[in-house]
Amino acid sequence: MDFRCVAPGDHPLESWSGDSLAIGLFSDADHPGHQQLAELFGPALPPLLEQRRFKAKPGELLCIERLGQTPAHLILVGLGEAAEFHLTGLRNACANVARSSAKLGARQLGLLMPVESFGTAAAAAAMAEATRLGLYADQRFKSEAEPQHLPEEVALLGLGAEGWEGLAHLDAICGGVELARQLVAAPPNVATPAALADIAAAIAQGFGLELKVLERADCEALGMGAYLAVAQGSDLEPKFIHLTYRPAGEVKRRVVLVGKGLTFDSGGYNLKTAGGQIEMMKYDMGGSAAVLGAARAIGQRKPEGVEVHVIVASCENMISGGAVHPGDILTASNGTTIEINNTDAEGRLTLADALVYACQLKPDAIVDLATLTGACVIALGEEIAGLWSTSDVLADGLLSGARMGGEALWRMPLQASYRSGLKSTLADMKNTGPRPGGSITAALFLQDFVTQGIPWAHLDIAGTVWSEKARGQDPAGATGFGVQTLVNWISGGAPA
Ligand code: BES
Ligand code: MN
Ligand code: ZN
Repeated sequence: MDFRCVAPGDHPLESWSGDSLAIGLFSDADHPGHQQLAELFGPALPPLLEQRRFKAKPGELLCIERLGQTPAHLILVGLGEAAEFHLTGLRNACANVARSSAKLGARQLGLLMPVESFGTAAAAAAMAEATRLGLYADQRFKSEAEPQHLPEEVALLGLGAEGWEGLAHLDAICGGVELARQLVAAPPNVATPAALADIAAAIAQGFGLELKVLERADCEALGMGAYLAVAQGSDLEPKFIHLTYRPAGEVKRRVVLVGKGLTFDSGGYNLKTAGGQIEMMKYDMGGSAAVLGAARAIGQRKPEGVEVHVIVASCENMISGGAVHPGDILTASNGTTIEINNTDAEGRLTLADALVYACQLKPDAIVDLATLTGACVIALGEEIAGLWSTSDVLADGLLSGARMGGEALWRMPLQASYRSGLKSTLADMKNTGPRPGGSITAALFLQDFVTQGIPWAHLDIAGTVWSEKARGQDPAGATGFGVQTLVNWISGGAPA
């Protein structure tokens, strides 16, 4: 699938001829696309739209076949009210169009969208990413793959040279998102800790990153008692993954990305139930998928001036005679003792040792991503991830990276008074507090393992890692959430 930008100005169709044309329409305003439509159809159009009850509401699609003519397929896509139209609406429209044009067997797809209110490069990036990611299909686990008809060429009509700049990082970004989706969707008998380490090795090899994998004995030597307690009930060896991207030239800042990498979370002795979605807990490595996807994208994109460390303390949370007991007290690598009052709050235990390790790298910022709490899903649903941060600058950087990438974040409070919910009578702290505010106490637990003065942010992606509704995706499934936010933030901004 090749992307290109065609002819800026009022008449992009004059320099494009393909078999499939999609035009985005507002429900309440005309724009140059209406003119193009009128030129194609003349007076036949209004009665047709009336007859097919096309109102241009967001997500509405109307496919018109034009036998023997060029373009042979016309797809009208509703964008809703002009004043409410944002980059996310543009992304959704393009993903929708891409899928229906693929069903029509389109070979050349032209997209004509009213993007005047966005930067041209940003619009081009959003359109191309949405088109490619909207056509993503995962057939790895089918005995026979269904043939997929991808367009050979996608033309962004009316975007011209500035649009081209927006496409510079398309392959890196989409490759990262696709990797993250594949890792999240892979079942727990495939995406094991060892498999994650292999993927990290492939990224290191393919894009020139450094890789260190700490085995159980190495982690023991570093005193990672919290992480290893989670891993001890599994038959699979834990793998502590550390990938490093070093830029050519001077290093101006150093950042660490930490991802929760539970390849399966049974809950341990505080066993999950079907209602607790135990069968979906393969996606409890969504944080690690996001940071590995980001590592791939960064390795390909090679941003200047920034050194990036990616850390995943990967393991499974299982049950066995050797598994951690509810009530066990263990010691993390910074010396903090933790009473485990719930074995299902395991992610924060693995992250505790990963964050201590991250701080030892003396970074300018640490960002962790984790499918950490069901409470965050209750608070923000499946489209918005929670963001906690000790730094306004870091939080704003992540929020703007997210906005550019079409990922929604909402900043949540590090309410210090809630820290008392984690008090233990025997140890320094317990691993869980009361149910109310559960995503906040989880964030406060993590904060204990971050050296004061190092800007840190935590993203709870428990809701966003998997989509039941088709959110720009068909069918629903792994979203690859987080990759775009991280890559945009690290690269210091997507196209303006
Ligand atoms: N992996 C889960 C969180 C989760 C829940 C992710 C639902 C995605 C969807 C995490 O390890 C967990 O079990 N958290 C517990 C914490 C509780 C015991 C304090 C939870 O949220 O119930
Ligand atoms: Mn759990
Ligand atoms: Zn978990």
